[in-house]
Order: sequence, then structure tokens, then C-alpha cells
Amino acid sequence: MNIAIDGPAGAGKSTIAKRIAKELGYIYVDTGAMYRAMALFFIRKGVDPSATELIDTMCKDAQISIEYRNGEQVVVLNGENVNAFLRTEEVGNMASATSVNPNVRKKLVELQQELAAKNDVVMDGRDICTVVLPKAEVKVFLTAGSDVRAKRRYDELVAKGENPDIKKIEADIIERDNRDMNREVSPLKQAPDATFVDSSYMTIEEVVETIIGLTKK
Ligand code: DC
Repeated sequence: MNIAIDGPAGAGKSTIAKRIAKELGYIYVDTGAMYRAMALFFIRKGVDPSATELIDTMCKDAQISIEYRNGEQVVVLNGENVNAFLRTEEVGNMASATSVNPNVRKKLVELQQELAAKNDVVMDGRDICTVVLPKAEVKVFLTAGSDVRAKRRYDELVAKGENPDIKKIEADIIERDNRDMNREVSPLKQAPDATFVDSSYMTIEEVVETIIGLTKK
């Protein structure tokens, strides 16, 4: 059984997918974390996101695998657990830029399909319903207004003791959406057979119940 969830940055995909996986006893696969690990590899090597040919050849040197420790997904990059380095704006923006590369995508899509073939999964990302798991039993396009997504991110950063600029957060979100939706390879779009869920005015529980309801059906 595979549940596929696509949507833009900050729509709440990972929070929702994690809850569903826990309730149903499935494995949660965070594909964004794989693109972030690849981005971290390029940042550490000092590669410019516009150096497309270099990215194309160098991605072969990044060995990425996934392990599960205490139910948490651990991303291993060339033997190192890199989870602690993935959730920064710098890595997120680099992931958005380098994920346009077809070789980067090919490598990570194969890994994602392998995981889904062996396990019951809830997998989230940008191209899961359209490219990675087109035959998934449940497909959802989860979104929310850019202002709502910016506010959620703002609240997260404030809770961490930071003093962010909400306008800048929203501008970054809109820029990332544009890049993810307009790239040539596997752009973010709603699959025709995916259920559209706008979480702007829904609680986490309501979204989780909606998707579990689709799964039971
Ligand atoms: O979901 P996230 O913010 O962790 O994803 C980071 C970037 O990775 C996102 O801006 C685009 C890319 N990505 C992708 O191209 N395909 C996926 N399935 C998941 C993420």
C-alpha cells in the first residue's frame, strides 16, 4: 500500500505524512530530505548551483541511502548521518536549484521506488503522484496559501528564538514554488487523479483524518 503526497514548500506535508505513517504503521519517506542531502554535498564541495555540467557529473560521487532508527528516517550521505544539517534555508534553496538536474533526479527516484516496492509507505515530495509512484493507491495534492505557509514557517522560527522577516519568508516561498513548478523535469503539479486538499483553514488532525479516510475507502 502506497500513499503519495505532493505539494509546495510549507504546506505541512511532512507533519501530516509522519502522523499518517504512525497511525497506520507505515514507513514515512521524506524525499525532500534526499534532495537536501544531495544539496548539502554540493554546498560542501563549493559547487555553484548554476554549474549544471559539474552537478551532472559530480552527483555520481554522492552515495545517498536511507535507514530507519527508532522509526525516524536517517539520511546517510557517503557514510555520514546528515539529518542535523538538512533543515536550513540555505540547504532548502540549494535543493530546489540542484533538483532540476535529470541525473540527480534519476538517482533519487530509483531509491524512492525501491523503498516503496519493499514497504507500505507514506511518501511526500513534488513528483510522487506524477512520476515516482503513479500507481499509488492514494494520491493527494496538499497545498495552502503562500501567506499561510509563510506564517507557519515564521511561527516555527520564532519558537526557536529567531527574529525572522515574514515578508522575506513569503518571497522565498513564492520563488521556490515558481522554480519547482516551472522546471523542465518533473515539475510540481497536481496529478489528474490526485485529491486536492487545501490545508489553509484546516487543523493537522482534520487533514490527517481526510487522508486516512481516503485510504480506508
Ligand atoms: O520538501 P523540501 O522543502 O524538503 O524539498 C526541498 C527541495 O527539494 C524542493 O524545493 C524541491 C526538491 N524536491 C524535488 O524536486 N522533488 C521531490 N520529490 C522533493 C523535493
